Amino acid sequence: MLNPKQHPVLEIDLSDPGPIPEEAIEQAVSLMRSGRLHRYGEYSGTEPHAALFEQEYSDYVGSRYAVGVNSGGCAIFLGLKVAGVEPGDKVLVNAFNLAPVPGAIHHAGAHAVLVEVDDDYRINLSDLEHKAEKSGAKALLLTHMRGHIADMEKLTSMCERIGLVLIEDCAHTMGAKWNNTFTGRFGAVGCFSTQTFKHINSGEGGIVVTDDEEIAAKAILYSGSYMLYGQHRNAPSQQVFDRLKGHIPNFSMRMSNLVACILRPQLKQMTKRGEQWNHLYAELENRLNRIGGINVPAREPLEQFVASSIQFHVNGLESSQIQQFVDRCTARGVAIKWFGRDQAMGYTSQYHHWQYLNQQDLPDTRNILSTTCDMRIPLSLSEHHCDVIAEIIGQELAAV
Ligand SMILES: Cc1ncc(COP(=O)(O)O)c(C=O)c1O
Repeated sequence: MLNPKQHPVLEIDLSDPGPIPEEAIEQAVSLMRSGRLHRYGEYSGTEPHAALFEQEYSDYVGSRYAVGVNSGGCAIFLGLKVAGVEPGDKVLVNAFNLAPVPGAIHHAGAHAVLVEVDDDYRINLSDLEHKAEKSGAKALLLTHMRGHIADMEKLTSMCERIGLVLIEDCAHTMGAKWNNTFTGRFGAVGCFSTQTFKHINSGEGGIVVTDDEEIAAKAILYSGSYMLYGQHRNAPSQQVFDRLKGHIPNFSMRMSNLVACILRPQLKQMTKRGEQWNHLYAELENRLNRIGGINVPAREPLEQFVASSIQFHVNGLESSQIQQFVDRCTARGVAIKWFGRDQAMGYTSQYHHWQYLNQQDLPDTRNILSTTCDMRIPLSLSEHHCDVIAEIIGQELAAV
């Protein structure tokens, strides 16, 4: 038997989302006692949590409007619709991504045109320009994948120059900024997720933010407001709703009051959580970069990320060795995901797994993902856990 002192096992579950704050639990219990879980209704004395959460979220990111929906994937789908994407349109999107994103494009009846990423996991701007010209796409769905934020000054001026509408997928960048501006505030629409493994957790949930009155009104109507849109706070004017209401289908993608009441206390903790995550990220980054063969790509100084996960390259190994390395770490409690796997696994997939897309080859992205590993950072991690993680990774890398 291996000596546990020399071969420790990580005694913490990296997928631990942490508890829901007591204040949220108490609010949820009281809401459940009232039975008023649906966001619209004839309220008598209960708090309209969904409308209040939207107001608090728009105050937080500094947008004019925020609309709560039932998932991040639905936020993106609605984001595409309200930004004017029509069935049959082409939508540019970074190829390093996760399944709900091409799924949302497909849901909108559009076709994904995949764009290469660089080895720091950010979209490749020359490929973006090239594919925009070649495809004639009029929209870019930019996922700030795993929290890596492109140079937003360069990207937005390129979008303006070539006439691309920008929709931001901020599922991994809640609370993060580029040069002091929150992600989600650069495009026509910003889309967020509150699924359990995101920065605030309601199991399922999504948010659309925008400054545009017409876009906000459409998002509210599409999300399924019936004729009760007047219950939104920070709402677009009645005239805009009057003009649009008979023309926008109700897709029943509302956020529930229960979800919103769980989120409100968590939003108040976002700044503190962000600081904790970034502290843990720096601890892990320092330790991992000291291991030969591991490289955590450097971040741009203007990128004010909120790191709920860490990505690194494993260099100098064959695919079969990386697979062994990942499996051996996972067996010792360090659950690492590898974006280079042949088969989609768990939450992790690569663009070639989405076989319903038009076939596209992205040699740079394929190459970059072939060495890309990914690990969650739970807030319950301590510096001691970071030591153990680095020790396990170093030992298993040497062993394969
Ligand atoms: C990059 C990215 N975008 C969008 C989504 C969709 O979010 P949701 O799970 O809330 O639908 C996810 C979910 O994991 C994601 O990782």
